[in-house]
Amino acid sequence: MEDVNQSMSSDVSQRAQELRKLLQQASYEYYVLDAPTMEDAVYDQLYRELQTIEEQHSELATPDSPTQRVGEKPATQFHSVRHNIPLYSLENAFNQAELTAWEQRWRRVAEDEIPESVDYVCELKIDGSALALTYEHGVLIRGTTRGNGIEGEDITQNVRTIRTIPLRLTVANPPERLEIRGEAFLPLDVFAHINVEREEAGDALFANPRNAAAGTLRQLDSRIVAKRRLDFFAYTIQFPDGTVVENAPDSQWGGLKFLEAAGFRVNPNRRLCTSLGEVAAFYDDWSSDRHNLPYLTDGVVVKINSLSLQQTLGFTQKFPRWAIALKYPAEEAPTIVENISVNVGRTGAVTPLAELRPVQLAGTTVSRATLHNRDFIAELDIRIGDTVIVRKAGEIIPEVVRVLKELLSAETVPFELPTHCPVCGQPVVQPKDEAVTRCINTSCPAILKGALVHWASRGALDINGLGEKWVDQFLSRGMVHTVADLYALSEEDLVQVERMGNKSAQNLINALNESKQQPWTRVLYGLGIRHVGSVNAQLLAEHFTTVEALHTASPEEIETVYGIGPEISQSVHQWFQVPANQVLIQRLQEAGLQLEGDALASSGNKQNEAIAGKTFVLTGTLPTLKRDEAKTRIQQAGGKVTGSVSKKTDYVVVGEGAGSKQEKAEKLGIKQLSEAQLLALLIDSVEPDQPE
Ligand code: IVH
Repeated sequence: MEDVNQSMSSDVSQRAQELRKLLQQASYEYYVLDAPTMEDAVYDQLYRELQTIEEQHSELATPDSPTQRVGEKPATQFHSVRHNIPLYSLENAFNQAELTAWEQRWRRVAEDEIPESVDYVCELKIDGSALALTYEHGVLIRGTTRGNGIEGEDITQNVRTIRTIPLRLTVANPPERLEIRGEAFLPLDVFAHINVEREEAGDALFANPRNAAAGTLRQLDSRIVAKRRLDFFAYTIQFPDGTVVENAPDSQWGGLKFLEAAGFRVNPNRRLCTSLGEVAAFYDDWSSDRHNLPYLTDGVVVKINSLSLQQTLGFTQKFPRWAIALKYPAEEAPTIVENISVNVGRTGAVTPLAELRPVQLAGTTVSRATLHNRDFIAELDIRIGDTVIVRKAGEIIPEVVRVLKELLSAETVPFELPTHCPVCGQPVVQPKDEAVTRCINTSCPAILKGALVHWASRGALDINGLGEKWVDQFLSRGMVHTVADLYALSEEDLVQVERMGNKSAQNLINALNESKQQPWTRVLYGLGIRHVGSVNAQLLAEHFTTVEALHTASPEEIETVYGIGPEISQSVHQWFQVPANQVLIQRLQEAGLQLEGDALASSGNKQNEAIAGKTFVLTGTLPTLKRDEAKTRIQQAGGKVTGSVSKKTDYVVVGEGAGSKQEKAEKLGIKQLSEAQLLALLIDSVEPDQPE
C-alpha cells in the first residue's frame, strides 16, 4: 500500500513539475517575447490544475511556481538587507566633451593594460528603479531594492509578481548562486492608468513613472503590485567570486545575450560600438526616437564591453570607471513663481499651486505647477518671487524641482498654507500620518462641488448636461447640499436658475431620472468614498450585492474581497459610520437609485438557480477548495457569501474543524453542505443544460 502511495505521489510531483514548465514557457512567450503560443483558456486550465495539486500537496508548492505570481497577504514591513556586492550608481556626462574626458580618464587608469581595440556597449538608460535579484540553483530566492546602494529592502513578494522576471532561469547547470541586476519600470500607459484611478479615488497623483514604480515596489500588499503590470529589463549578471560557470560570458554584450537566454527581457535597443563616434551616433539616433517608446528613458548607458578590462578598471568610491551615463537634457526650464494659490479638491485636500510666469517646456506652455503640500514647500523653501526650475516629461504634470537660491532677491515672500479653508472659512486639519492638509467640513462648497461633479461624471452616474456651470449655480443659490438633493429638483426650481431655459430644465430632469437606472457599481463609485475608484467600486459591488451588506460589513469582511487592502476597507467602513452618509444613502434609496445589484453581473458569468441569490456561509477547512476559491466560485454562480450564520443564511458549507457556525446552523435548521455537495451544485452553474 505504501508503495502505491509513493508512486502516486511521485506521479503527482512529476505532473506538477511538468505543469510548471509548460506554464513558465507559455508565460515567457507571452510576456517576454510578446509572441504567445498558448490559448488563454488552456493556460487557465493548466494553471488551475497546478493550483489544485499544490493545495492538496503543500509539499509540492515551490517558490518558482507560476502560482506565486499573484501576490500574497500584505506584509507589515520590509526588511533591510545588505547587498553582497554594492549597487553602484553611474557618473553622468552631458555632452561629447565629457564623454571624451571619461575615455581619457579610464585610459590613464588602465595604462598598459589597454587592448588594441576597445568596444563599447550602448544601452538605453531606463528611468525606473534598480533591482537586485538573487537566484540559487537557478531559482529566484530574493529581490531587493537598490536602497542606498549598500543596503536595500527585501521586496521578494512584489518582485515575484513581475511577469518578465523568471522565477526559474532557463540555464543548464545553473551555478549555486548568481545575482541579476536591472531596472523595474512602469510602462507609460500603465502609469497614466494608475493616475486616473488615483484621481478618481481622490489620492495624490504620482509625479512621474519612476516614482510610481518605486512606490509600487514598496507597496506592502503584493496583490496590488500584481495588478499594476510592472516590467523589468535586465542588464547585468554578477557571479560571486570564484564561481565557475559553463559558457559564462566574457563581455557585456555576451552578458546581455546570456540574460536573454536565461529568460529575461533585455532591451533590444542596444548597439555594440567600436568608437566613441559610434556611441555619439547611437545617442543622437535615440534623442528623438526615445519619445516613441512605451516607457521613459533619460539617457544612454555606455559600458566598456570587455569584462576583463572592466575588472582592471574597477570602481571609484561611487561609480564604476568602466561605464558612464550619457544623459539627455531634462525637459526643465527656469521661471518665476508669481504667486502661490490654493485649491480645495473633492476630498477636501488643500493643495498649493505655483502660478508661474509662462514658460515653454516639452512643446507646451507651462503656467502652473503643483507644490503638493506644505512639507514639499518647506523642504524646497519655495517662496513667492523665487526663480525655480520646473520640469515636465511626457504627459506628466509639471513640477518644481528646485529653487535657484543664488538668485534669491530680498523681495521674495514666504508662503504659509492657510489655517482656514479658502472656500468655506472653516479651520483645516493636518492629519497626523498624512502630509496633506484637509478641509473636513462636509458642507464646504468646494467639497460639495467636487462631489456633485464627480457624481454626474461619465464613469459614475453619467448625468448628461450636469457640469460645473450648473453645479456652481445650484450651490450659490443653496438649491442642493448633497447629491440626493439633485433628485428633489423640479422643473420649476430649475427654470429659476440663470440662463436655464425650459428645454434645458426638462433635459436635466430626464437625465436625472435616467441616472436612477445606473447599476449599483456606478452608484458606489459616484459616492466618492476615498480610495474607491471605479475598479475598487466594481470589486466591492460584485461582492457586496446590497448597500446594507456593505454598510454592515466589518473592515475585516471588506478586506476579504480579492484586491481590496486594509486602507480601502477602513476607508469604506468609516464612510458608512458617518450619520450624514447614512442619511444620504437612505435618501438615495427613496429617490429610486440602484443600491443593489448582481454578483459579478458585469463579467457575464452563468447564473445557477440552485445558487443564485442564495446566501452561503463557509466554515472549517474544506478538503480541496481554498476558502477564497470556494467563495469566488459561489459568487460567480450568483450566490452571496457572508461571514456569520443567521436566519437569512441558506446553506452552511461545512469542512473539517467547523465549530460554532455549524452548531448555529443546526440550531436554526439551516441546510448543511459538504464540499462535494457544493461542487455538485456548482457544476450545474457551468453546464446549465446538463441532465442529472
Ligand atoms: S548599469 C554599475 N544599465 O541608472 C552599473 N544602469 O544612474 C550600474 N539604469 O542605478 C548600472 N538603465 O538604476 C545600468 N541599461 C542600464 C540602465 C541603468 C537604467 C539605472 C540604474 C542605475 C542608474 C544610474
